[in-house]
Amino acid sequence: MDSIIVEDSGPLNGKIPIAGAKNACLTLMPATLLSDEPVTLTNAPRLSDIGTMSLLLQSLGVEVETLNEGLVLALSSHALKTTRADYDIVRKMRASNLVLGPLLARAGEAIVSLPGGCAIGARPMDLHISALRALGAEIELKDGYLHAMTPNKGRLVGGTHKLKFASVGATENFIMAACLAKGRSQLKNAAMEPEIVDLVKCLKSMGANISGEGTKTITINGVEKLQGATHSVVMDRIELGTYMLAPVIAGGEVELVGGQMELLEAFCKKLTEAGVEISETANGLKVKRKLDTINAVDVTTAVYPGFPTDLQAQMMALMCTSSGVSTLEETIFENRFMHAPELMRMGAQIDVQGGIARVKGVPKLKGAQVMATDLRASVSLILAGLAAQGKTKVSRVYHLDRGYEKLVEKLENVGAKIERVR
Ligand code: UD1
Repeated sequence: MDSIIVEDSGPLNGKIPIAGAKNACLTLMPATLLSDEPVTLTNAPRLSDIGTMSLLLQSLGVEVETLNEGLVLALSSHALKTTRADYDIVRKMRASNLVLGPLLARAGEAIVSLPGGCAIGARPMDLHISALRALGAEIELKDGYLHAMTPNKGRLVGGTHKLKFASVGATENFIMAACLAKGRSQLKNAAMEPEIVDLVKCLKSMGANISGEGTKTITINGVEKLQGATHSVVMDRIELGTYMLAPVIAGGEVELVGGQMELLEAFCKKLTEAGVEISETANGLKVKRKLDTINAVDVTTAVYPGFPTDLQAQMMALMCTSSGVSTLEETIFENRFMHAPELMRMGAQIDVQGGIARVKGVPKLKGAQVMATDLRASVSLILAGLAAQGKTKVSRVYHLDRGYEKLVEKLENVGAKIERVR
């Protein structure tokens, strides 16, 4: 199994290109099930999660063609062969649950295994189920599979639903399903993440009638059919936030090409408080720290536009060498501090009590052998290793392949001492 070795690298300088968003692409791909015409996604990220979603869609009968070295995905759902999403593929990735809404709307039936994904909490499906039931779906759980049916295997029926919690996936499943429902649907307390706005942009170019995306209330007027389209995947704000931290931790100045600050305001605000200078350039953003020291800042994760849970681990890596004590509170997932014990192996001083981690900054971390436990936890160890004394060996890097394309190459190009070994 591959590992990544990263060393105290000194200041980083140069440019890092930001890819299309994994989380947007993972909902755009199943959205193509809603039409029997081809849909082309450009600016797709080259990641193993995208490969897993391709395999899942292919198992349903979707033709998936990868063009331009993976940057373009051409998907055609003209002939579905099954409505069953099998455990063997679904267990690899929680986002597989995003086939539920579109399959149901398109085929009148969906049998979807309960998903797996990162081991960062229970991650149940109750919110998806109640949202789809509001559109007339009948759903039951049998043998680990959700069996969902439309009324008389016909079209779903428009309905209004208020989510108990603004779940990203449940919002996406509701929107996709409601696109082909009879009549008007409304989702209240909807999630407002940029990836949802991107999904709606694509659905609109396929002929859907949707308004209110990016706000708490989304309205969908169902149409009978959606057509093919070409859509460019929005930038990956989590990849952006991750690489913004590289020069903050290691020193130097890096330009994030394609980076947009407006999709990451809460995170940028915290970085500014920590003593980081962020400036907009013609091509993206430039980041450097103002002084040698980093101020301790407190962070509480929240749904968008709050501080993203997907950047909490990386922020913790930064706080490990701050000049004070910071508190990081995780409110979205239970059990999302698995990086803390690994960072402690590198000399970090962290005390975790339930959903709150208290981090006392130390002058420097020390390289160690550490283990990646989930996608964002893994990258926090790489970031920490960029300025830790000596070598840090991160094992189980398949987690990183799920969400960071060409990670070693991108960091090497700005001067990081990093290599992948077998
Ligand atoms: C998406 C992102 C993930 C990110 C998360 C929160 C994708 C592919 N993944 O995941 O990277 O960390 O949003 O920003 O877009 N929950 C329930 N019942 C449900 C659904 C969710 O209790 O039916 C809970 C989850 O256990 C979790 C919280 O709601 O504690 C947030 O989950 P949700 O917003 O649904 O995240 P995902 O869509 O799975």
